[in-house]
Formats: sequence, structure tokens, C-alpha cells
Amino acid sequence: MSYQYILTEEPQPGVGLIRLNRPKALNALSPELMQELGQALEEFDRNEDVRCIVITGNERAFAAGADIKAMATASTVDMLVEDIIARWETIHHIKTPIIAAVSGYCLGGGCELAMSCDMIVASETAQFGQPEINLGIIPGFGGTQRLTHAVGKAVAMEMVLTGRYLSADEAKALGLINYVYPVETYLDQAVKLAAKVAAQAPLAARFAKEAVNMAFETSLSQGLHFERRLFQMLFATEDQKEGMAAFVEKRKPTWKGR
Ligand code: CAA
Repeated sequence: MSYQYILTEEPQPGVGLIRLNRPKALNALSPELMQELGQALEEFDRNEDVRCIVITGNERAFAAGADIKAMATASTVDMLVEDIIARWETIHHIKTPIIAAVSGYCLGGGCELAMSCDMIVASETAQFGQPEINLGIIPGFGGTQRLTHAVGKAVAMEMVLTGRYLSADEAKALGLINYVYPVETYLDQAVKLAAKVAAQAPLAARFAKEAVNMAFETSLSQGLHFERRLFQMLFATEDQKEGMAAFVEKRKPTWKGR
């Protein structure tokens, strides 16, 4: 499929890469871009050969937020009827692990998009922020919730109330992101990490993602119950037999995703 506001490629076997591509608008997340992003994510998710997805922007901006110009004159009724943010939800239904490769501005909806991914790899120039308060609004795609889970109340509250950005190093120290690399290499490093995930048993990787994410949705006892059931279910897969046989036979497993 060809897109206007994103680019897709498969830079390595098993890895699907999506580049947000509105550079002049710092990759502002317009409804059209988000529609294409949702389609591309679903397409990769259906493709059994793609076992990890990377979402990136460019060196200057991962994304500077939702498209302010597209919503500047909207009324509450417009927001309720069109509910553009509801259409952003596709990413939360994707079973394939997703890595955000972030450089430059990662603000508002851009930061929320990155936090909706499963891991974040950043360049040294990355800046994370929820500056919606400067526009007279608040985050609308999980910023008050996911940021608080990730960095704790004190920092999240300051960021949401004052619009302060976190540097890449601060974000790393606070546990918001996984790695910080020079701007020249962050994308290659993100693809490398994706290739590592893509080399794992595919069904186990999908269950692992689902189980970790469940930790944010439920009580500990329900989460433990959910994890146990997924663990048990994997014993019905060929890959579990192969993985354990390969260990015993001291060889590398060959995964089938079955
Ligand atoms: N929406 C639409 N256009 C945007 C944009 C956005 N979020 N962010 C930047 N742009 C556009 C600018 O309007 C400008 O376009 P023109 O050349 O046509 O004027 C272009 O991108 C370059 O931006 P600047 O000239 O402002 O670049 P800068 O280097 O001076 O500043 C910046 C960079 C600090 C990121 C600044 O652009 C900025 O503050 N952007 C807005 C950030 C923001 O408030 N994001 C939250 C959006 S609301 C949201 O996301 C809601 C939600 O939770 C879902």
C-alpha cells in the first residue's frame, strides 16, 4: 500500500519500519497521518513475517503532537462527534511488539504515541513533553496516565502542569525510555533491538507483550492469574516443544510461530 504521510519498509527480516513523514510540520499528527499509521500498523500486524515494528520520525522530530491547526477551531461537539482521538486507539490493539525510535521533539500526542509503544529508544537530542497546558488543554491520548505510570506522580504532575520537557538522559534515568544513543545511530540501534525481538518465538513474544501490558490494567492477583493462563497456553505450541528440545540438545531453536 502506498501512503502520503508515512513511509514503510522492512529494513531487516522480521522488522517493519514506519516513518512519520510530515517533516515541515514536525510530524504533527493530523487525522490523515493517524489514519495511515493505523492502517500500516494493522497491515504489519497481519503479516506473520513481521515480528517487531519500529515507529520513527526524523532527526528533528519524532512528532510535535496532535495537529493543532486541525483542531484549533473545533467545538466540543466536533470533538465528541468526530472523536479523532478514538481513531488513534488502533495502536493499542496491535499484538506485534512495537518500538519507538525517537529523536528531537516528542511532544503532546507524539509523546503519548511513543508511550503507547512497548519500548522507546532515543537519540541524545530527544525531548519528551506534554505541553498541552500551554494551549489551554490537557493531554488527550493517555499523557496524564501513561506518563504517571512511567515516571511517577511528582515528575508527571510538573510536566503536565508546566509543560516542562525531559531530556533524553532525564527520561532514561526516570525509566520512561530504554536507551539513549547518538543521533547518528539511534535508529539503527532501534532496528537492532527490534531484530532481537523478531528472533524470538513469535507467539511467546506476543503473549509476553500482552502480559506486561496487563500489569497496567488490573490488580496484582488478576494479573498473576492472567500470566499463569498465558504461560500454560504456550505449552500447546510447537515452539515451546522446539525451544525446550533445543535447550536439551544444546542447539539453536527454529521457531515456526505455531
Ligand atoms: N501542530 C501543527 N503544526 C505544528 C505543530 C503541531 N503540534 N508543531 C509544529 N508545527 C508546525 C509549525 O506550525 C510550523 O509550521 P509553519 O512553518 O507552517 O509555521 C512548523 O511545524 C515548524 O514549527 P515551529 O516554527 O514552531 O518550529 P520551532 O523550532 O520554532 O518550535 C516546537 C518547535 C517547540 C516543537 C513548536 O513547534 C511547538 O511548540 N509545537 C507545538 C507542540 C505542542 O503544543 N504539542 C501538543 C499538541 S496538542 C496534543 O498533542 C493533544 C493530545 O494530547 C492528543
